[in-house]
Amino acid sequence: MTDHNGSDDELLLRGEGWTEVYRIGDSVHRPVRPHTATIHAFLAHLHERGFTGAPVPRGYDARGREVLSYVEGDVPVDPLPAWAVGEEQLAELAHLIRWAHDAAQGWRPPADAVFGAIPGPPQSGVKPLFREPELVAHQDYCPGNVVFRDALPQALIDFDLARPTTRVADVVNALYWWAPLCHPQDRGPALADVDVPRRVRLFADAYGMSTVQRQQIVDAALRRQRNSSITMRGAAEADPVFRRWWEGGVKDKLPRAESWLTATAVSLREALE
Ligand SMILES: Nc1ncnc2c1ncn2[C@@H]1O[C@H](COP(=O)(O)OP(=O)(O)O)[C@@H](O)[C@H]1O
Ligand SMILES: [Mg+2]
Repeated sequence: MTDHNGSDDELLLRGEGWTEVYRIGDSVHRPVRPHTATIHAFLAHLHERGFTGAPVPRGYDARGREVLSYVEGDVPVDPLPAWAVGEEQLAELAHLIRWAHDAAQGWRPPADAVFGAIPGPPQSGVKPLFREPELVAHQDYCPGNVVFRDALPQALIDFDLARPTTRVADVVNALYWWAPLCHPQDRGPALADVDVPRRVRLFADAYGMSTVQRQQIVDAALRRQRNSSITMRGAAEADPVFRRWWEGGVKDKLPRAESWLTATAVSLREALE
């Protein structure tokens, strides 16, 4: 959805409502954050490695905002519509993420790198999903961050939460949104009745996951889900936008996802074997 902000050449783009993103011609302009320079370096690396499914960093405008290339296409919003959630779309998303991972592999963040995070102080009870990071990856595959063209996922935008992680930990974020790993009542009609274990298997196959990676998925998803409840509660205390999301349903949706995931874990493990 787009809105005029009053000037002739700037269009306000609306996603999750977190960031004021303006489109000017074939660029988008976003507020600078502490991690912006690090993310620009990362995006430049992805493009150098031939990954074209991300905005090109274009420096800063006269008002100090970051500038990125505008990625043509359609960006779905939550709840995901039927055209965005077929098996073909899911497999293509897995290919896109695999391509990004392979391009990211080997990138060493600069010594002064800063990475973004959900608002709020570090919360006790959050458990790491891995011992050693393998690469820097996107980590925020919500519907508003995936651009479709010809009804297939073609690009990722909004790298604000990209950080050192593992392939499996990054994939479980994508699976949360797109398998999806949440309770049927929280999914929207297009995904309410899908066979989630089958879709998780399809994603793992399309990505080309190893046996070891497949064995790690369910535990990583469970741990991520518990962490997510804790982190989002902390963010709701720290930030009014997150408080609105929390009170608007996230506070029920996250524990429901955890119960559903616990109950579905055996079927997911079987499907991934
Ligand atoms: N580089 C881009 N190319 C195309 N659309 C974009 C781009 N950046 C943002 N948008 C659009 O603006 C919306 C919000 O931008 P985003 O960077 O995801 O901010 P938020 O932090 O609010 O999620 C996106 O969902 C998308 O529709
Ligand atoms: Mg976004």
